[in-house]
Amino acid sequence: MNEIYKAIGLLRSGEVVGIPTETVYGLGASIYSESGLNKIFHTKERPFFNPLIVHVSDIEMAKSLASDWCEIRETLAQAFWPGPMTIIAPKNEKVSDLITAAHSTVGLRCPNNEITLELIKKSNLPLAAPSANKFKRVSPVAATHVKEELGEDVFVLDGGECQVGIESTIIDVVGETIKIYRPGTITPEEIKKSLNHLNLKNLSVEFFSSPVAPGQLKEHYKPKIPVVVKNDLTYKAQSGEFVWLMEEDPYLVARNLYANFRKAEKEIFSKIIVLVDEKYTNDDRYVGILNRLEKAAK
Ligand code: TXA
Ligand code: MG
Repeated sequence: MNEIYKAIGLLRSGEVVGIPTETVYGLGASIYSESGLNKIFHTKERPFFNPLIVHVSDIEMAKSLASDWCEIRETLAQAFWPGPMTIIAPKNEKVSDLITAAHSTVGLRCPNNEITLELIKKSNLPLAAPSANKFKRVSPVAATHVKEELGEDVFVLDGGECQVGIESTIIDVVGETIKIYRPGTITPEEIKKSLNHLNLKNLSVEFFSSPVAPGQLKEHYKPKIPVVVKNDLTYKAQSGEFVWLMEEDPYLVARNLYANFRKAEKEIFSKIIVLVDEKYTNDDRYVGILNRLEKAAK
């Protein structure tokens, strides 16, 4: 594919490229290009304190950037990669402070998208890539969204619509505790199951608040018009309101979430009302979705 060679040329010359993943579109740069990394922050208007996730083509490449890779990380990577899980690990000297916001750890992810996997493999460049939206805005789930967010000049590899629709589950491993820093579509139950055969005595999988961006990102994923969450499923739309009755299937909801936000803000609506069945609050499959809704509604 010609487009991939064009993207490789841009990455090698210190430019940024919009890349498709199964979760959301990213704005990628070579981890070895200071100019490319700076352009990510500049283009997104993102503060430097918020570290970037590094995208790799396989477990080998992930290990080549980590100073420690334990059996639990290896097992999780084998179970969930390529896929929507970011694994935090202690970094080595190949990963610069610009990427990690001077933290000693790095977030690593092997995305489940053929175009981006091919791009990373053919270039042999690990790619730092945040979601390709302006800081605090709704993540893009189609190539056209990236241009709407960041301008026509950004080169974007078009991989169609993202099939997962919300950002990856971010986890770290501390002893036998798996800490979930950002909920995605992978549940604690699924994580536990994947580690079953290791027979760990003290295994626990829990949600934690992130140590690298404490409190700063309470507002996020925001459309240009207000979002309100209601539990009254019989609510009827008032003038100017875009009302979305959340579907039963959490994977479908995740896939539609940001696309619905964008659709509503682009049309004549002045407010987005999301009707959420209260029973979802006790269902782990909705944690990622409810987390995004809560921040969007702040
Ligand atoms: O699905 C995804 O993860 C998408 C696609 C493009 O891969 N990427 C994404 O990147 O959501 P971004 O930059 O929008 O969000 C990255 C999150 C931030 O909240 C950041 O604080 C956290 O990852 N993060 C990055 N490095 C970290 C680290 N070393 N420890 C803890 N959290 C980290
Ligand atoms: Mg983001």
